[in-house]
Amino acid sequence: MALPKFLMWPFSLTWLFLVHWQLHHVEGAPEPEAVPGIGINWGLLATHPINPPIVVNMLKDNGIKKAKIFDTDPWVVSAFTGSNIELMVGIPNDQLRKLARDANYAHDWVKNNVTKFVYKEAVNIRYVSVGNEPFLRSYNGSFVNITFPAMQNVQNAIDKAGYGDKIKVTTALNADVYESKTDKPSDGEFRPDVFHAIKEIVQFLDEHNSPFLVNIYPFLSLYQNEGFPMDFAFFDGVANPVTDNDKEYHNVFDANFDTLVWSLRKIDHSNVNIVIGEIGWPTDGNKHGTPSNAKRFYQGFLKKMASKTGTPLRPGPMDAYMFSLLDEDDKSIAPGNFERHWGIFRYDGKPKFEVDFSGNGENKMPIEAKGVVYQERKWCVIKPFDKSLNMSSLPGALSYACALGDCTSLGAGSSCANQSEDGSASYAFNSYFQISDQSVEACDFKGLANIVTDDPTNGTCFFPIQIESSGNMLTTLLIKVGLFAGFSLIFLTFM
Ligand SMILES: *[C@@H]1O[C@H](CO)[C@@H](O)[C@H](O)[C@H]1NC(C)=O
Ligand SMILES: *[C@@H]1O[C@H](CO)[C@@H](O)[C@H](O)[C@H]1NC(C)=O
Ligand SMILES: *[C@@H]1O[C@H](CO)[C@@H](O)[C@H](O)[C@H]1NC(C)=O
Ligand SMILES: *[C@@H]1O[C@H](CO)[C@@H](O)[C@H](O)[C@H]1NC(C)=O
Ligand SMILES: *[C@@H]1O[C@H](CO)[C@@H](O)[C@H](O)[C@H]1NC(C)=O
Ligand SMILES: *[C@@H]1O[C@H](CO)[C@@H](O)[C@H](O)[C@H]1NC(C)=O
Repeated sequence: MALPKFLMWPFSLTWLFLVHWQLHHVEGAPEPEAVPGIGINWGLLATHPINPPIVVNMLKDNGIKKAKIFDTDPWVVSAFTGSNIELMVGIPNDQLRKLARDANYAHDWVKNNVTKFVYKEAVNIRYVSVGNEPFLRSYNGSFVNITFPAMQNVQNAIDKAGYGDKIKVTTALNADVYESKTDKPSDGEFRPDVFHAIKEIVQFLDEHNSPFLVNIYPFLSLYQNEGFPMDFAFFDGVANPVTDNDKEYHNVFDANFDTLVWSLRKIDHSNVNIVIGEIGWPTDGNKHGTPSNAKRFYQGFLKKMASKTGTPLRPGPMDAYMFSLLDEDDKSIAPGNFERHWGIFRYDGKPKFEVDFSGNGENKMPIEAKGVVYQERKWCVIKPFDKSLNMSSLPGALSYACALGDCTSLGAGSSCANQSEDGSASYAFNSYFQISDQSVEACDFKGLANIVTDDPTNGTCFFPIQIESSGNMLTTLLIKVGLFAGFSLIFLTFM
C-alpha cells in the first residue's frame, strides 16, 4: 500500500528523530585523552551486540584513539567513518587458506574489505592482522604453513592498490610462540614447530616496517599455575625480582616481553617493532578474575605506559591494545569461564571498575555507552517452592538454560558462586530468558519458572536485563514509527 504523500512526512521525521537520538550524544566536558599508544580490542561474539555507532562514540568519549577488531564486518567498520580512530582489522583463520593460495582472491578481499572503506568512507585503517593467533598449539599446526603466504598476498594487494605506505600487514600471535626453558628471558627462543614460519614472517615484518603483534596475558600465568607469585602478575613491585644477567624483572609482563626480544635477537632481527595485540584482565569466571584485580592490573599497566619506562631491554614508549572493550556472552568457554568476562565494560556498555585511561592512576570510572536501549524491566526466576511443582524436572531445565544461556558467573570463585540453590536456578533461567529476548515461552521450564518485575540481583550476583540487539532495535523502531504513523492517520481522519 502506498501511503499518501502527506502521511510520509511524520513517518520520515520520526525516523530521523529516532535515528538522530540513537546516534548522537550530548557533548559534555572536553574529551579526555588516553595515554599515547593505547588502543582497545572490540570483539563481537555477543548474543546482543551494541549498535556500533554507540560504541564508537563511547571510544571517543573515553579519549581512545585506536581500536582493533577481528574481522571486517561492514556494519562495524563503517561506524568508524570520519571518527579518525586508527583501526586495525583482522582476518579470521578460516580465510587464510584461500588467501594463501589465491592472489586474485586476496586482491578482491582487500578491495572489498579494506580499500573500499579507506577510499569511500575515510575510515582510518592502518593495520590488517592476517589471522588471529594462528600458531596456537591447540590448532595442531593447521595454519603454520599458510599464514605467511596469506600475509604476502594481502600486502601485495594493498601495495597494488597504492596503500602500501599507510596500511601494514601483520599477524596477531599468542605469546606461546616463544618459550624459555629456564624462565629467564635470555633463554627465550621461538618454538621449534613454528620456528621456520616465524623466521619468514619476522623477515617480512622487518622489511615492511610492520610490527610484531603479540598477545601477553599475565592473568593466564596465574590461572595456569597455582604456585605463581600473585604480585608478579601486577605492576606494583615484588619482594623477589627475577634477575637475568644485569637485568631485573619486577613483573611477568616485562619478563615475557623481553623473552620475545631475546627470541628475535637470536634470529638476527633485534630491532623489529613490537606491539601488544592483547593485554587485559577478566572480571569474573575465576577466583582471580575480579573487578578489583582488573583495576589493579589496568591502572598499573596504564601508568607504566604513561611513564614510558618500557621493559629492561626495550625502554621507551609502548603500543598496546587492551583486551577488551565489552563482555562477549557468546564466546567459547573452552579456555575457561573467564572468557566471557574480559570487558572493561559490561555487555551493555557500563564500566565495571575504575580505570584511568590517561595513565594518571586516578580512581575514576570510564564513561559509559550512551543511547543503549534495554529490553523491558523484567526477569525470569524460579517459582517459590510449592508441593505441586515437579522438582525432578529441575536438573534438566538447568542444563538446558545453561547450555543456551550463560552460567559462567555461577562457577566456583565467580560473582554468583554463593547463591542458594534457588538463587542459582533463577540466575540460569534468567540468563536464558534474556538471551531469548524475554520471550514468554523462554520462562517456563516445565512450569518451574515465572516472570517477575523486582530485580533479583543479590550482592555481587548481578541479574542482567538484555539490551535490544540491533536487529530487534530496528523492529522496535519500525513498530514505534508504525504506531506513530497509525496515530497520525487516526488523527488526520478526525480532522
Ligand atoms: C571480504 O571480501 C571477500 C572477497 O571479496 C568477500 O567474499 C567477503 O564477503 C568480504 N567481507 C568479509 C567480512 O570478509
Ligand atoms: C589437535 O589434536 C588433538 C589431539 O590429537 C585433538 O584432540 C584436537 O581436536 C586437535 N585440534 C584441532 C584444531 O585439530
Ligand atoms: C609445513 O611445511 C613443512 C616444510 O615444508 C612440512 O614439513 C610440514 O609437514 C608442513 N606442516 C603442515 C601442517 O602442513
Ligand atoms: C515429574 O517429572 C519427571 C521428569 O520430567 C516425570 O518423569 C514424572 O512423571 C513427573 N512426575 C509427576 C508426578 O508429574
Ligand atoms: C563466597 O564465599 C566464599 C567463602 O565464604 C568467600 O571467600 C567468597 O568471597 C564469596 N564470594 C562472593 C562472590 O561473595
Ligand atoms: C544472596 O547472597 C547471599 C550471600 O552473598 C546468600 O547467602 C543468599 O543465599 C543469596 N540469596 C539467594 C536467593 O541466592
